[in-house]
Amino acid sequence: MAISKVGVVGGGLMGHGIAQISAQAGWDVVLREVSDEKVDKAIGMIDKQLGRAVDKGKLEQADADAIRGRINGTTDYGELADCDLVVEAMTEDLDGKLEMWAEVDGIVKPEAVFATNTSSLPVVDQAASTSRPTQFLGLHFFNPAQVMPLLEVVRTVTTSDEALQTGFEFGEKLGKTVVSAKDKAGFIVNRLLVPYMLDAIRAYEEGFGSIEEINVAMKGGAAHPMGPLTLADFVGLDTLNSIAQVMFAEYAERRFAAPPTLRKMVA
Ligand code: 3HC
Repeated sequence: MAISKVGVVGGGLMGHGIAQISAQAGWDVVLREVSDEKVDKAIGMIDKQLGRAVDKGKLEQADADAIRGRINGTTDYGELADCDLVVEAMTEDLDGKLEMWAEVDGIVKPEAVFATNTSSLPVVDQAASTSRPTQFLGLHFFNPAQVMPLLEVVRTVTTSDEALQTGFEFGEKLGKTVVSAKDKAGFIVNRLLVPYMLDAIRAYEEGFGSIEEINVAMKGGAAHPMGPLTLADFVGLDTLNSIAQVMFAEYAERRFAAPPTLRKMVA
């Protein structure tokens, strides 16, 4: 389906970035958060990124203003009614997501496509909770969404060819490298990246090196842009812990288990 308006539910680390790149691609965007304070925070992050791009000479002020003008921050689900695509970017909590979809499903026009940016939860669990499981897919972005080139497009058992196509076209218009992923917890990237970050914490616990040594070693020895422990902080320890819990529950393998240090840091 042709997209002219994109809804983003959740304006945190991922949501504000998804809203920004959608507006940069030319779509009108509704960014929904739970409170005025959170709306302001999300819009503030976008303003900061656009301001930086202008300062660096990568964006004209008039273009930054136009991008900003296409983003409507709100606390009202009603503003999503005429969106063609709604992307969920809330915290990694299935109950919260289901509660949101129950409300949004009754508000947004029936032909619209719904997508989740979940990092680890099976997409079908959300799809099946809506009245439009054929128009539901996973769109998994990477932090920072403004910079990371990849988008995983996830087809679940219910996703129609048409909805999948909408996902691919959305990603391509955003300028992303689009990879098709199966609806398996963690998809491709987190299936590999999450055990790596968790194992870096275990390596630290087992005395293989200090935090700094582990980070420096993987930056210099494997040419990673960030060491694994820096990356864990960057993803967010709370988010990493939630993903680990979901993936461990799904696969019951030690490599997905949150190490004690992670649990304690989150506490
Ligand atoms: N938001 C927007 N833009 C950002 C940004 C942010 N948070 N951080 C950096 N950028 C932009 C900068 O403005 C700069 O843009 P420019 O080239 O147009 O000037 C560019 O990115 C490079 O930034 P810097 O020069 O400041 O810094 P680095 O070169 O060190 O790059 C980085 C920063 C892109 C974050 C890099 O360190 C990196 O790629 N790190 C790894 C990130 C990663 O692996 N992300 C995936 C995490 S897993 C995930 O998200 C999945 C989830 O489900 C858990």
